[in-house]
Amino acid sequence: MFLKPLSIVAAVVISIVQSNAQALVNLGLASLGYRYVTTDCGWTVADRLPDGSLIWNSTLFPQGFLALGQFLHGLGLLFGVYQDAGILSCGSPPNQTGSQCHELQDAENFAAWEVDSLKYDNWYSDAAAGFPNVEYTSSVSPELRYANMSDALAQQKRTILYQICEWAPSIFRLVNQAGPQTSFAGPGQWADTDMLEVGNGVYTIPEEQTHFSLWAILKSPLIIGAALKDEITAIIKDIWSNITVKGVKTSYISQVQGHGTLLLELQDTTPSGQDSANVFGTSTGKVTSFEDIYGLTDSSNYTLSIAFASTTPTSEAIQSFPYLSPSRQATQTHSPSNTNYVLPPSGTFYPSTSFTTTGYTTHNTYGSGFWVPVGAKIGYIGPGGTAFTSIASTTAGTKFEVPLSGRHSELFGPVSTEGWMDGDNEVVIGNDGGAGYSVYGADFVGLKVYA
Ligand SMILES: *[C@@H]1O[C@H](CO)[C@@H](O)[C@H](O)[C@H]1NC(C)=O
Ligand SMILES: *[C@@H]1O[C@H](CO)[C@@H](O)[C@H](O)[C@H]1NC(C)=O
Ligand SMILES: *[C@@H]1O[C@H](CO)[C@@H](O)[C@H](O)[C@H]1NC(C)=O
Ligand SMILES: *[C@@H]1O[C@H](CO)[C@@H](O)[C@H](O)[C@H]1NC(C)=O
Ligand SMILES: *[C@@H]1O[C@H](CO)[C@@H](O)[C@H](O)[C@H]1NC(C)=O
Repeated sequence: MFLKPLSIVAAVVISIVQSNAQALVNLGLASLGYRYVTTDCGWTVADRLPDGSLIWNSTLFPQGFLALGQFLHGLGLLFGVYQDAGILSCGSPPNQTGSQCHELQDAENFAAWEVDSLKYDNWYSDAAAGFPNVEYTSSVSPELRYANMSDALAQQKRTILYQICEWAPSIFRLVNQAGPQTSFAGPGQWADTDMLEVGNGVYTIPEEQTHFSLWAILKSPLIIGAALKDEITAIIKDIWSNITVKGVKTSYISQVQGHGTLLLELQDTTPSGQDSANVFGTSTGKVTSFEDIYGLTDSSNYTLSIAFASTTPTSEAIQSFPYLSPSRQATQTHSPSNTNYVLPPSGTFYPSTSFTTTGYTTHNTYGSGFWVPVGAKIGYIGPGGTAFTSIASTTAGTKFEVPLSGRHSELFGPVSTEGWMDGDNEVVIGNDGGAGYSVYGADFVGLKVYA
């Protein structure tokens, strides 16, 4: 794969939150009951104001939270915020302050900003991890801390819906946890299994249907967790199935009967090798920030070409690409087309041939040209089968490159792993699913470890 040329989209005039809120109304979703618009984690900053007040990130929210609340109320919607019962919130580091020890003060601020709901999480509260600090009685159980915020909200003149959240990473885990609680669901209390990952391209359409169905059956609040006004629509019409799918970024999955035909009509496609800037980045005003972009090639240099949607040159500048060689990091005046050299991240590739297999797991050797880069892969990772190797590390914060579910990390960045230690680390690729899932795990060609 190669680095993708990017085209910069026109600057957005109103914020993402505002345009999605407007879309809730325009699409008729608000009248169906989708009324709360919540800024989830990522809106606050590391420090509080001198008087201890919580404050929003003014780059992301230049108009501030009271103005945002009033905008939402003007559309007939309700304003939700996220905070955390620990001393930091989700997304840290870089640090973002949590509400611990400031519960009452934060509840007062929420009320003053005309907030209507609070999603309250449980990050950075574990004594074993050095939190909370000495100012507060350590409690691994969130109960006291959640009750504290509940009391603080109840003291406000405003009615604020309280949504308790305690990490929600996996559908299987949530269904297992929420299943036994369903008998407690009733007016005013629900097993809240967090927002839907429907429409984000994370799951296939059948998986999204399963996910949505389970949330509905569990009586969880149905919270849209996807962009309603997706700028990147490559629309696909599946003619014979009479299905139209919007917002397809990389793949579309369908079934073809024997002797059958899959006829697709593609609209608004992007030329191969090019992606709109918002696939890899986010735009705030005129500033577009890109995620780390990697390519796989034998060359020591990647070429990143940036094309601008507008062909009119301006005096605006392109600054600080993360992997530009230092000599090229200076500010450059952009012309309609601009080419920069991007150095690959340094790392060591461990090919499948350096792994030892157990169970039915096998090495498959095909020769050069197949299963790059070494012409071999590991397959048939059945239940109980593994492939393992030992990797020495001296660097904390090392990341694995793992293309999950066939998605290349070019799009989603390398996957971090926890528990990476100095010295020898045994890396085991296994198949926990076994019967009931797919019999065999994904084949793999190797593992890259970034220093
Ligand atoms: C505000 O958000 C921007 C964009 O995510 C980030 O670069 C910046 O560091 C944040 N500011 C603070 C003070 O956290
Ligand atoms: C982040 O917050 C933790 C907990 O308060 C603190 O120990 C750490 O020093 C902070 N890091 C930075 C970079 O401020
Ligand atoms: C609740 O939080 C306040 C700070 O907002 C703190 O002073 C108080 O000790 C906490 N109460 C309990 C029971 O933890
Ligand atoms: C195809 O789907 C559209 C939209 O759901 C529907 O209006 C139309 O009747 C369908 N056509 C056929 C042939 O089923
Ligand atoms: C990589 O890019 C740098 C900066 O333009 C250049 O000096 C160097 O010769 C290039 N190396 C290769 C192998 O192309």
